[in-house]
Formats: sequence, C-alpha cells, structure tokens
Amino acid sequence: MEKKNIDWASIGFGYVKTDKRYVSNFKNGAWDEGTLTEDDTVVLSECAGVLQYAQTCFEGLKAYTTEDGRIVCFRPDLNAKRMTDSALRLEMPAFPEDRFVEAVKAVVKANEAYVPPYGSGATLYIRPYMFGTNPVIGVKPANEYQFRIFTTPVGPYFKGGAKPITITVSDFDRAAPHGTGHIKAGLNYAMSLHAIVTAHANGFAENMYLDAATRTKVEETGGANFIFVTKDGTVVTPKSDSILPSITRRSIMYVAEHILGFKVEHREVMFDEVKDFAECGLCGTAAVISPVGRIVYKDGVIEFPAGMEEMGPVTKKLYDTLTGIQMGRMEAPEGWICEIG
Ligand code: PLP
Ligand code: COI
Repeated sequence: MEKKNIDWASIGFGYVKTDKRYVSNFKNGAWDEGTLTEDDTVVLSECAGVLQYAQTCFEGLKAYTTEDGRIVCFRPDLNAKRMTDSALRLEMPAFPEDRFVEAVKAVVKANEAYVPPYGSGATLYIRPYMFGTNPVIGVKPANEYQFRIFTTPVGPYFKGGAKPITITVSDFDRAAPHGTGHIKAGLNYAMSLHAIVTAHANGFAENMYLDAATRTKVEETGGANFIFVTKDGTVVTPKSDSILPSITRRSIMYVAEHILGFKVEHREVMFDEVKDFAECGLCGTAAVISPVGRIVYKDGVIEFPAGMEEMGPVTKKLYDTLTGIQMGRMEAPEGWICEIG
C-alpha cells in the first residue's frame, strides 16, 4: 500500500480530508445498512435538530501502524459502548456497538494510505459522530439521525509533543452536577470554547476545571482526564460523575496496577492536595499522556518537580507502556488491540 505524500512528522492536530468516510442514516425507527462514501459534505434542513438544539455526540480513537507494520486500533469496543451511553442520554438511538466496530475497521482500511507510518509520531485519528437531521422546532428529540465516521492523520495535540505544559484553573465550569459531563456530547465542548480561548489568550495550554458545585475538587480539562502521582509513587485519578470516563485513563490505571505494579487510587481529588503531588499529566486519545509542568491559579503557582523540560519518571513509565502497547512493542492485555486486517 502506497502511503500519501505527507510530512508526517510535522503535522499537528488538524483536519486533513481523507478518501472515504462511513455514513448510516436512521429513519422510521431503524438504521440503514450504511456505506462508505467519498462525499465529505453534509446537507441538512435549516431546522435540523442538531442545528437548533445541539443534538449531537461523538467519539475519538486512533489507528496506529505497529512496529511490525500492522494497522491496529485501540479498544474500539469501549468507544462504541460510550457512544451508546452518550446517545441514550441525549435521547438519540444508539448505533449498534458491533456495527460501530466494523464501521471503524472499514473506514480505516479504506484510508490505509493515510495511516501514518510507525515511528513518525503521527497517527490516524478516527471521529465517529451522530446528529439529529430532521426539522425540530419544539424542544424535543429528532426522529431521524445520521451516524458518520471520518478519519484524519494527526500529530501531537499540544505543540511540543511530550514536553510539559502550563495550564490554569478555569473560572468557568465545564459540567453541572447531574448534567452531561460524563458523556461525549457536543454541547460540553461548546460550553468550553470561551474558556479555552480565554486560557490560550492568557498563555495557557489548557484549563483545569473544578467541580461546579463546590469549586474544591479537580475534575478534568476540556479534552482529557488527569492523572497524578504522589511523592510515594501512588497513581491517583479523580473520580466524579461529571467527568468523561476516559478510555486512556482506564487503560493507564490498569497498566499502572497490573503491569507496572504501582498502587492506584480512583477517588475524589481536592484541589488543595494538588500542590503535594509529585507528577501531573493529562490523558486522552488526543492528549495521549501530556505532562503538566505548572498550574497557575488565582492564589499562586504549582510547579511539579520534574520541571518544564521532561516528564516525571512515573509518567514516563506509564507513557512508554501505554504507547508500547498501542504500537505493538509490548504485549497487550486481552482484547485491547483490534486488527484492521
Ligand atoms: N475528557 C474529555 C472531556 C475528552 O474530550 C476526552 C477525549 O476523548 C477525554 C477525557 C479522554 O478520553 P479518551 O481517553 O477516551 O479519549
Ligand atoms: C479525543 O481525545 O479524542 C477528544 O475527543 C478530545 C478532543 C479535545 C480532541
């Protein structure tokens, strides 16, 4: 397979149109059989549910070229499951989970020429999403939907790749208690746009959101969960009903406990204890594991001991093991790697 002539090492996290995308429509209570198409446009009623009341949810996962040249993706069954949870919470019909995985495979296979080579630092990002298509003007769910998957080759989410970033504690909230923070609804990201533009304007790479009710507990960032490491080497991640259950975070916690032998804790994390942690990182499909070197907040600055040049030692071990599994350098736990074939 001839790869596209792309300078893989220098691409950022942006959209590049690839050859094929998957489309399936829901009408009269059923999903059609779905198809791959070259048409990258969507034509909608001016009154479509997604345009009026933001009835849309999405997923994100990646395809990798392994060291021995296979193309694989990472735990797509968990994305399928989470998309079901998102759809149901937004009163949308779930796309069948087995068909989700098959469609991911088909669309990656059809865009094989865009899967970045092993060692290039880039990967193929896969974006499944669903939205209400028929006219809706009273506040109610649509009854027709489109499910699509496109792919785009991407480089690192944060400029500088795996170098530590500086983040700030946001004055805005991302998700309400009992709201939609735990699902991947487009509306959560609309909520965060003003906050991220403000953070960037002030020189920060990301926002740390605190819990909206008390503003005392760490939640997550706009696009990633947190992991912390205590001074005695325990890997800690915040527990909250209003954060997205990151597949990367769940995988890292498993790796930390069962492969690397660290003590792990999934619990509420008070912002007041963050200054006492030895390491901090963001984790997600796009972020992979991005180390945080500094957190600026209204009363001061927290600087982690590893500084602004390198990841802390535990974060590095987690990063090497996670990416080693994803790139086929290390044996994966059962069921984590999905061969594209
Ligand atoms: N939290 C938010 C708000 C996200 O958008 C994402 C990205 O998907 C994550 C966390 C990380 O989740 P995952 O590891 O499943 O990509
Ligand atoms: C992902 O990591 O897949 C996401 O959806 C996060 C987004 C900020 C790009």
